[in-house]
This record gives sequence, structure tokens and C-alpha cells, in this order.
Amino acid sequence: MLDKVKSFISEVENATANTEEEIESFRLKFVGRNNVVNELFEQFKQVPSEQKRELGPALNKLKNLAQTKLKELSESVGFSSTSSAEVDVTLPGAFGSEGSIHPISQTRSRIIEIFERQGFNVEDGPEIDNDWNNFTALNFPENHPAREMQDTYFIEKNPDMLLRTHTSNVQIRLMNKKKPPIRAIMPGRVFRNEAISARAHCFFHQVEGLVVGENISFKDLKNTLYHFSKEMFGKQTKIRLRPSYFPFTEPSAEIDISCFICGGSGCKICKQTGWVEIAGSGMVDPNVLENCGIDSTKYSGFAFGMGIERVTMLKYQLDDLRLFSENDVRFLKQF
Ligand code: PHE
Repeated sequence: MLDKVKSFISEVENATANTEEEIESFRLKFVGRNNVVNELFEQFKQVPSEQKRELGPALNKLKNLAQTKLKELSESVGFSSTSSAEVDVTLPGAFGSEGSIHPISQTRSRIIEIFERQGFNVEDGPEIDNDWNNFTALNFPENHPAREMQDTYFIEKNPDMLLRTHTSNVQIRLMNKKKPPIRAIMPGRVFRNEAISARAHCFFHQVEGLVVGENISFKDLKNTLYHFSKEMFGKQTKIRLRPSYFPFTEPSAEIDISCFICGGSGCKICKQTGWVEIAGSGMVDPNVLENCGIDSTKYSGFAFGMGIERVTMLKYQLDDLRLFSENDVRFLKQF
């Protein structure tokens, strides 16, 4: 029996393999379920004990050698030592969980779709911009308290560089490079130095819109947002405009929609008022047009801006803004 073991040892030591089949036959013979080593171990039980002393270590050596060799052979040919014979192909597969589109992206796509159908182009601009594009050109006078409406993250002084506080910087960039007629929306991320809470975050997303042309009036502003609100929140939606103030628009209005949850009778979402605010808007201040080299005696325009988080929270009745940036799959999976 010892001779047999020794001859197997040298067979294992000298084994070579170039194909998967060769490895598999080695595996079946020396490592597989009914391998020769196991058989020898069975016979070993009957062997007289004085022979065991030499035979035992030899058998163990054979067993270890066979395993190491199998690994070596597999690696040299590039296969893993788990052979296909050990894989039960009838077992159900392990499915990775399927991703979903983030609710903010879904709302953004829907908003873009609605405005694109009204002939708006989509414009993009940088998140880091200078003071001129974010404030001064938008008629925020220097040291004017209106600048404090938006707590700003400044990056650099002289020249002033900052994280944009709204996507209105893209309006300025657009009017500088393209003359009227202009009809565009600008979706993007904006930043404000606010403490993070359920209602406020240091970054969020906006979609702003800008229309500039001849004879553009407040009527066009109202119609555009009326159409948007019906598409976004349902046909029965009504809108209401409330006087407001923005440095870059005159007159300015806050846009409210009739509460789509209670239909106007009063509920938690609309705080019993029957109305929820969705956007700021107004007629572009002539100073802003002039700052971009557009003749304000010939052209007029309107602009509006809405928060994507806000629209999404209303639509899905969410009450915590932080959910959008926590990447908790239990939340994200629901969309
Ligand atoms: N830029 C304004 C904001 O961020 C929104 C707005 C845009 C208001 C256009 C009116 C017109 O608050």
C-alpha cells in the first residue's frame, strides 16, 4: 500500500494540464468526491498499526499535495478550482437589486419635458461663478440687503467667486451670448449657507425659466405657469399670483397652486390655506436686460424659478428634505 501511495505522490507531483478537461480529470481522480486518496484512507483503517506510522504521514502528504496541485494547475490555466461540476445550475440566481432613478432626477425630467413641449431650450451653466453673474448683473446693488436673502458661500475675494445661490447666473450668461428671442429653462444645483434641517439644506436644485422677446407680457408669464401647473399637478389645478419682491424682476409674483391634496378645502400639506407656493416669478427688470446688452425699450421678458425638491416633496407628500441626499435605499427604492 505504501508503494501505491508513493506512486500517486509522484503522479501528482508530475501532473500537468493544459485544458479545463485535463484539470477536471485530475480533480476527479485526486480531489473529487470518490477520489483515490479517500479510498486509501478507507483502506488505511484496516492496516496493522505498525504500518500506520509510516503510511499515515504519506497519505496526508498525498492529500495536501493533490489540493495544492489542483490550485496550481487551475491558476496556470486560468480557471478557478471550483469546477462546473460543483455548481448547481438549477439553483435560483442571486439577483443584484435593481437601481431606480432618483426622485429629484425624475421630477427634473418631468419639468424639462413639460417646458420642452412649450418650445423651451435647456441651458446649462457653472455651479461656481463670479459675483457679477450671480448678483450684480441681476440688479442686486452692492451692499444691498437683498443679497442677504440668499446666504452665500464665497470662495474667493477679488475677483469675487462664489457657489451660485440660484440658477439665475445662467440667465445672465445666456443673454450675453444669445440675443432675443430667448425661451429657455435652466435646471441645476444651487448652494446656500443654511443650517440643514427638514425644511432647508445647504444645496438643492432649481429650474429657472427665461423668456425674452418683443411684446412679452405678464399674460405670457401667467399662461406659461398655468399650463405647467396643470401638466405637473393635474388638470383641475388653479393658480394664484401673489405680489412679491426679487431684485431682478419688476413686478414680481409668487406663484401658488390650489392644493392638489384637498382640492382647496384645507389640509396639512397646504396648512389649511388651500394653496401651496411653487415658484417665484416676474417681469425681467429692464436693468437686467441692459446689463446684458439687450435693448429694454425694444424687448421685454419674464422669468421664473422653482425648487425641484419642493415640487417633489409636494408631489409625493414628503416632509423631510434631507431624505433626498442621504442615499438610503429604503427611501430611494420607493420611486
Ligand atoms: N432666483 C430666484 C430664487 O432663487 C427665483 C426666481 C427666478 C424668482 C426668476 C423670480 C424670477 O429665489
